[in-house]
Amino acid sequence: WFGHVQPAPKDPILGVTEAFLADSHPDKMNVGVGAYRTDEGKPLVLECVRKAEEKIAGSNFMEYLPMGGDISFNNHSMKLAYGEDAGVLADKRVAAVQALSGTGACRLFADFQKRFMPESQVFIPVPTWSNHHNIWRDANVPQNTFRYYDAATKGLDFKGLMEDVKKAPNGSVFLLHACAHNPTGVDPSPENWKEISAFFKEKGHFALFDMAYQGFASGDTERDAQAIRIFLNDGHQIACAQSFAKNMGLYGQRVGCLSVVCDDPQQAVAVKSQLQLIARPMYSNPPLHGALLVSTILEDPELKSLWYKEVKGMADRIIGMRETLRTNLEKAGSQHSWKHITDQIGMFCFSGLKPEQVDRLTKDFHIYLTRNGRISMAGITTSNVEYLANAIHEVSKN
Ligand code: LMR
Repeated sequence: WFGHVQPAPKDPILGVTEAFLADSHPDKMNVGVGAYRTDEGKPLVLECVRKAEEKIAGSNFMEYLPMGGDISFNNHSMKLAYGEDAGVLADKRVAAVQALSGTGACRLFADFQKRFMPESQVFIPVPTWSNHHNIWRDANVPQNTFRYYDAATKGLDFKGLMEDVKKAPNGSVFLLHACAHNPTGVDPSPENWKEISAFFKEKGHFALFDMAYQGFASGDTERDAQAIRIFLNDGHQIACAQSFAKNMGLYGQRVGCLSVVCDDPQQAVAVKSQLQLIARPMYSNPPLHGALLVSTILEDPELKSLWYKEVKGMADRIIGMRETLRTNLEKAGSQHSWKHITDQIGMFCFSGLKPEQVDRLTKDFHIYLTRNGRISMAGITTSNVEYLANAIHEVSKN
């Protein structure tokens, strides 16, 4: 039956973790996958999550969630993304469903797009998180791209971005990273966002925000939501794919939310029912535990402020490591400019290393990262930063 099945290509991100795990070298380093580590290189379970676990321990609730997930979780997620006082929430015109983290939220949207915007394509930034391409491919939505990153300046190609937004047919669907762009760590400034929003208005484009890192860019969840707030202020109907993997450290719980801003409450009810209809034959209804943890944290003022503190702690450690990595590269004698390491934000540094240089880092130094040169800053610690800097210098000298 299966003789014709060839092994699938390795995933460009999760395949790196597989290779890392198979290496037994004592100095090996994983700066591939975007998963937070402490300065001791250990995964972190947040204190607010521990406390929420205690709070819900022993609850007898093991029932199915509704197809659209936990209502309280969805409400808290929307408030976090759109703002406590968001007019669209007061007007009850947002359709929200719990999703299997950010990937699941994007996939629900992509399937919804295929079904209800059948003529549309999706415009994806160059570069983007590799899984975005898989998600829209498997949903059978044609893909197009828009310019985003300028390799020469290692910053935003704002001019190129605006030209492509302008060139796209009116009413196109764009995938935007709300903050901490993955893989580049380069975000538009608030002024840039205002211009993008105004242009989207003119062209009647639709924005889906992938918000996997709220709190991870600046350490402030409100500030990291500013792109969304700017679009809302300008009266856009947007959609938002949220993940609590990174900002609450709930990676394996697969907890996220897809929300879609509609014209009115009736439309929101209809859209939600259709999203549920997409979820039902795929996984019926989403898992309970992670959503319960998130809503327990977000509805308890004490746990919520503890979470704010902890998310800021994670963001600050990463920001500190950026400084240390840059200093160590300079100390190692590197003649290249590494300013972009401290200019970029969020979990990743888009180093500018070439695929062959990455291959050498892995082969000669047992340092694992994706071949596009993306370094997960979260995997760097006080004890391994010098080793990494020296290795980067070694492969990038000539
Ligand atoms: C990453 O970009 O490393 C993370 O979002 C993990 C993943 O699923 O790819």
